[in-house]
Amino acid sequence: MKVLIIGGGGREHALAWKAAQSPLVEQVLVAPGNAGTAGEPGVRNVDVAADDLSGLLELALDQSVELTIVGPEVPLAAGVVDLFSERGLKCFGPTKDAAQLESSKAFAKDFMARHGIPTAGYAVAESVDEGMRQARAIGFPLVLKADGLAAGKGVVIVDDEDQAEKVLDDMLSGQAFGDAGHQVVIEEFLVGEEASFIVIADGDQAVPLASSQDHKRRDEGDEGPNTGGMGAYSPAPVVSAQLHEQLIDQVIAPALRGMTSDGHRFTGFLYAGVMLTPAGPKVLEFNVRFGDPETQPILMRLNSDLIAVLLQVLDGRIDQVRLDWDERTALGIVVAAGGYPEAYAKGRPITGLDLVPPGQVKVFHAGTRMDGAQIVTSGGRVLCVTALGDSVAQAQARALNWTARIGFEDAFYRSDIGHRAMGRDSGLGTRDPES
Ligand code: AMP
Ligand code: GLY
Repeated sequence: MKVLIIGGGGREHALAWKAAQSPLVEQVLVAPGNAGTAGEPGVRNVDVAADDLSGLLELALDQSVELTIVGPEVPLAAGVVDLFSERGLKCFGPTKDAAQLESSKAFAKDFMARHGIPTAGYAVAESVDEGMRQARAIGFPLVLKADGLAAGKGVVIVDDEDQAEKVLDDMLSGQAFGDAGHQVVIEEFLVGEEASFIVIADGDQAVPLASSQDHKRRDEGDEGPNTGGMGAYSPAPVVSAQLHEQLIDQVIAPALRGMTSDGHRFTGFLYAGVMLTPAGPKVLEFNVRFGDPETQPILMRLNSDLIAVLLQVLDGRIDQVRLDWDERTALGIVVAAGGYPEAYAKGRPITGLDLVPPGQVKVFHAGTRMDGAQIVTSGGRVLCVTALGDSVAQAQARALNWTARIGFEDAFYRSDIGHRAMGRDSGLGTRDPES
C-alpha cells in the first residue's frame, strides 16, 4: 500500500524511514518532506505543503493512499483528519475538535481543571489590566502562554511586573503572535525535571510508547532560551515503573475519558509534557501529535511494524496492539543553525553526511533541502544524529562521534544530551521500567 506522511521535519523523516520498513508498504509519500526523506529508499517527496489541506486530499485520492500519518499540529488543528475521514480515507490523528487540547492552551487548562488532571495553577486573561491583576495574585516568577499555536515560541517565563506587562502587551496586542495571542494563560512557575510521556490513543484506551526526555533549552546544562528541542533520548530512566503507572492513572486515563465524555473522542498520538515536581507530576502541556525530536530515538527503538499498529488502531483493535522495543538506549543530538532559536542563515552546504555508516547511527534530517545535487540547510533545527547504545553514555558517545564529523558553517549542538540519565545510570536514581 501507499502511505502518506504529512510534514517535513525530523519527526517526519523518522516516521517515513520507519514506515518504509513495513512489509505492508510499497511506497511512502512525504508532503513536503526534506532532503533526508528525498534520499530514503522507498520514499518519495511530493511538493505539497503540510498546511495545504485541499492539496493533501487531492494527493491522497490521486495516489490511492491507504494510510496517512500527520506529523505536525497545524494541519491537525485545521481539520485534516475530518476532511480525510469525510472522504473515507484513513488518517491517523485527532479531529479538529480534539486537537484543541494543543491548539488552545486555555481549552487545555480548563479541561484539566474540570477533569482533575494535575497541572500548574493558572488564570486566563484577555486584557493587560486583568492579566496584571492575575499575575500579582499568582506571584513571580510566573509563566505567560499565548493561547494558540505559536510554533513553540508562545511561552515566556517572567520574573517581575515590568516584564510581565511588556509580554502581556506584546501577546494581547496581536503583535507577537497574531490571533494566537488574543487570550493569555498566566501560570504558576513549576520547578522539577521534565519528561515526555507519549501514548497511542483511541477513545478511552491507550498504548504507551517508550519513555523519553527532551532537552528544550539551547545551551549545555539546560540553560539559555527555550527551543523546539535540542536532543532527546529513550528510555528516560526518570520515568520509573511507579511513575509510569501514576502518569497513566492521573494523566492519560482521565484525559482520554474526559475527552470522550466532553464529546471530543481522541484518536492519535497523545503527548503529555510533564514536570516532575516534589508534589508529584504536573502537566505542562498536551500535544496531539508525536514529539520532535522524541520521535527519532523512540522509533529507532521500536521493533514492531508501526504501520501494522496504526492500521490496527484505526480498525478499532487497539486492545490487540503489543509493542516490542529494542532494550538499548537511543539518543539523538540536534545540529542547529547558528542564531537559532532566533534568526539564522539558510542555504548552507552540509558536509560529512555520506560518512555515516548504516546501522547503529541514523542521521534524521529536519531543516534540509536539495540544491541541485548538494544538501543545504533550510531551517533552524537542521539534523538529528541518533545512535543506539548499550548505555546512555555509549549512545551519547556514538552520536557525538558522528555529530562532530557532519557540519555546515555556524553549526552548533549540545554535547550533554542525556546528562540527567547518566547521573541515574551511575546508581543515583530510579530504575528503567522497561529493562
Ligand atoms: P509548553 O509549550 O507549555 O510545554 O512550554 C514550553 C516549556 O516552557 C516547557 O517545556 C517548560 O520548560 C517551560 N514551562 C512551561 N510551563 C511552565 C511552568 N508552569 N513552570 C515552569 N516551566 C514551564
Ligand atoms: N519536543 C517537544 C515537542 O515536540 O513539542
